[in-house]
Amino acid sequence: MDSQTPSFNEKQQHLLHDPSATATEVPPVNNYGPRSYQTQYVLKRTIPVFLTLLAIFYLFPTTFVCHHHDDPALSLRPVTTEGKVPLEIHVMSKCPDARDCLRELIVPTMVKVSEKVNLTMSFIGSIDPNSDAVSCVHGPAECLGDIILLCAAKIYPDVKLWLGYANCLISDYPDIPKRDLVQSCAMEHGLDFQKLNSCISDEGEGIDLLRASIERSQENNVTKSCTVRLAGEIRCIRDGGEWYDCPGGSSVDDLVGDINKLYNASL
Ligand SMILES: *[C@@H]1O[C@H](CO)[C@@H](O)[C@H](O)[C@H]1NC(C)=O
Ligand SMILES: *[C@@H]1O[C@H](CO)[C@@H](O)[C@H](O)[C@H]1NC(C)=O
Repeated sequence: MDSQTPSFNEKQQHLLHDPSATATEVPPVNNYGPRSYQTQYVLKRTIPVFLTLLAIFYLFPTTFVCHHHDDPALSLRPVTTEGKVPLEIHVMSKCPDARDCLRELIVPTMVKVSEKVNLTMSFIGSIDPNSDAVSCVHGPAECLGDIILLCAAKIYPDVKLWLGYANCLISDYPDIPKRDLVQSCAMEHGLDFQKLNSCISDEGEGIDLLRASIERSQENNVTKSCTVRLAGEIRCIRDGGEWYDCPGGSSVDDLVGDINKLYNASL
């Protein structure tokens, strides 16, 4: 890393440090600080492009985001938040099974029944009980990818936005957390990169989200990316390129059917 390259802030770098990785093994983590540099860079480079893309986005609303707005069946009945069926996926951001899980099952399911579902994305990693340091299976770059996705979900609680963004990033998981990817996916899905960036860069915020998320997976005894849980029960696991532990089937129609059953039962 040359001196021109802004570095991930020291505290986070420390927290994200994977004790098993030597300095030379640490991937070229794209960095999001210091903020003064960042702000100038972002303002100069991003805003015009961002506005253009926003315009394109509104003119050609062919993305996942808009499809389901057009679906009259989904808007017939107002849905209260309490009635939503809890669906949770536990993933690691730099994992091909997470990509397949989103692409083959979760995104197409949400396109059909997003109004009936409270979707949570939780991450798998470990926390050193002595130092509280977080580490991730695929190294510090993965921890940073997880933080980016948690920040996106926090800032944009609308599932159409954060899930579209997560799917975009994880589709290119080997490139996480390269700046080009993080930024182009944000533009594609209408997320403000600057807002994301300040959540990631803020002292503590992003890393606290990751720690809480990892604890949540641990409390539920989940270790495999991707584990899909429906209403608290393991519904399906995608691991090593295969689906298993899917008692109700691993197809989109199977999952949609189960969600409809649970949703109707709770009315
Ligand atoms: C959605 O689920 C999360 C936990 O998975 C919970 O914290 C949140 O309150 C739920 N939201 C709604 C609207 O039910
Ligand atoms: C996780 O495993 C522990 C120990 O086996 C058990 O006590 C706990 O109830 C499990 N938690 C869940 C949510 O299954």
